[in-house]
Amino acid sequence: MSDTPFTFSIPNPGFIPSRVDNHITRRLSALRGQFLDQDAYARLLDREDTLLYAVNEIKRPAAAGELLMGVSIVHPGKVGKEFFMTKGHFHTVLDTAEVYYCLRGEGFMVMETPEGHPAVERLSPGRVLYVPPRWAHRSVCTSRQEDLVTFFTYPGNAGHDYGTIEQQGFCKLVLDTEKGIAIVDNPRWRK
Ligand code: F6R
Ligand code: ZN
Repeated sequence: MSDTPFTFSIPNPGFIPSRVDNHITRRLSALRGQFLDQDAYARLLDREDTLLYAVNEIKRPAAAGELLMGVSIVHPGKVGKEFFMTKGHFHTVLDTAEVYYCLRGEGFMVMETPEGHPAVERLSPGRVLYVPPRWAHRSVCTSRQEDLVTFFTYPGNAGHDYGTIEQQGFCKLVLDTEKGIAIVDNPRWRK
């Protein structure tokens, strides 16, 4: 891999980086057990294994001094009352941070520490989010029509721990209620 400086662009609209080394897609089936309304989940999955989000990564070595980058695109939609979202993860090297810059759409980043302290921050175009070391993070798209598009960058050695979230979920959920968008406690969350 070349170690000379490089540039790439993220054209608006579309937000597909001019350089993409890895294209990841995640469908409904990848989030089994994560949505609150399991009947709605089963019904939707029965109809179609819907695409929830895609990630376009720019590859760099998985080394501490490196920064990995990419663009995440979460599509609009709901499972029951719960908005489409990413799987979410802790970084395997827990002491690593991440920066997100929102390019398009509306949504939230749902976060929590290993001790179960929650934080939820709103994402909208132009907003920068700093996820400090130790905070698990999940993007939630609350736009009705638009994708939630974010640019992210994080240390090359961070790695991803998905297992902890797969087992216990996040302690906060983002739901579409009669009174509007609500951030509520996850009744199935366990520490
Ligand atoms: C990398 C990171 C993002 C996410 C992406 C998809 O550390 O936080 O690039 O990987 O938004 O979410 P996950 O990885 O949870 O499926
Ligand atoms: Zn991350």
